[in-house]
Amino acid sequence: MGNTFGQLFRVTTFGESHGGGVGVVIDGCPPKIDISETEIQRELDRRRPGQSKITTQRKEEDRCKILSGVFAGKTLGTPIAVLVHNKDARPEDYLEVARKFRPSHADFTYETKYGIRNWQGGGRASARETIGRVAAGAVAKKILSILHSEFEVVAYVVQIHEVIAKINRSAVKTKDVDRNVVRCPDSAAAKRMEALIERIHDEGDSVVGVIECVVRGIPPGLGEPVFDKLEADLAKAMLSLPATKGFEIGSGFGATRMRGSEHNDPFEMRAGKIRTATNNSGGVQGGISNGEEIYFRVGFKPTATIGRKQRTVTKSQQEATLAARGRHDPCVLPRAVPIVEAMAAIVLCDHALRQMALGSRDRPA
Ligand SMILES: Cc1cc2nc3c(=O)[nH]c(=O)nc-3n(C[C@H](O)[C@H](O)[C@H](O)COP(=O)(O)O)c2cc1C
Repeated sequence: MGNTFGQLFRVTTFGESHGGGVGVVIDGCPPKIDISETEIQRELDRRRPGQSKITTQRKEEDRCKILSGVFAGKTLGTPIAVLVHNKDARPEDYLEVARKFRPSHADFTYETKYGIRNWQGGGRASARETIGRVAAGAVAKKILSILHSEFEVVAYVVQIHEVIAKINRSAVKTKDVDRNVVRCPDSAAAKRMEALIERIHDEGDSVVGVIECVVRGIPPGLGEPVFDKLEADLAKAMLSLPATKGFEIGSGFGATRMRGSEHNDPFEMRAGKIRTATNNSGGVQGGISNGEEIYFRVGFKPTATIGRKQRTVTKSQQEATLAARGRHDPCVLPRAVPIVEAMAAIVLCDHALRQMALGSRDRPA
């Protein structure tokens, strides 16, 4: 039931972490868009495991195959199916988890809801499910860059535990983000973050923080009040990602400590356009984009699976302890950066197509 996202750009992901493979079916992609496996692969390579010593050591190349919906390098307007085979599955690492629920993972709730679960790895709750999202995100980015020539989405790590980066949000580019393994454009902070992740991992523990995402080049008018407000759909997209705990757009919870006179974004004329002098709104007002940068932050929880012995309960309701085996991300953030970008692109692509369907007066050519 809950495996499809979007109204006009509809994305359905499938697959479990230790099944035959994972992927996506994208319906509603306009025809004649140039798209290749190489473009999708570029995004998947930023998400794949084993990129550095601070990510899981599972060895997956995550090579994608477009099965349908593309002919001679162009979309057909028919469903696009993308498949990635699982190769380096080690179900034997999870034998204990078949009986014992991992604290704060999805084992207990999946077992309770469905009465059955693929206990090898995280099953459907594994971050491998997000491969389909990243593949769809690559297509969404392509559509958006055709509709809006200045479109750009950049996500990056702004905080890990108590290390907070200093980043000029309006200037940051993807190349600054990918300069280090943490994916934090403040290189001094990134070094401290990397050392922290390694130390916490050596202690058999996990650590996490916050990803910020900025989207540029989105015109005013995207968003469908009242239930599909742009920030509501972005929040749902982000909170549907594994291990996410919080979402704030623009001033976010900081707004609660400001007065109206401080928080309001004054309108002004700039280069013949109505703009705002500040951007506490995060580029969205009344659930509709206002043409400014859209920016938001996503808070994650530390990886549930840790090497330390923890209290738990077995399926047969016996109290037990569990110290995880297998390969895990000591910090999920570096690999979550392209996933956040993908979900932002999926939401914005869906809304861009919905705005075109509405026949807006600012309809892109
Ligand atoms: C990029 C990424 C990598 C992850 N890697 C792991 C992991 O190695 N081990 C783990 O226990 N959880 C990992 N998670 C988190 C689990 O998928 C998730 O926490 C779990 O399914 C419980 O769901 P919930 O946190 O959404 O409640 C990862 C999440 C992301 C976004």
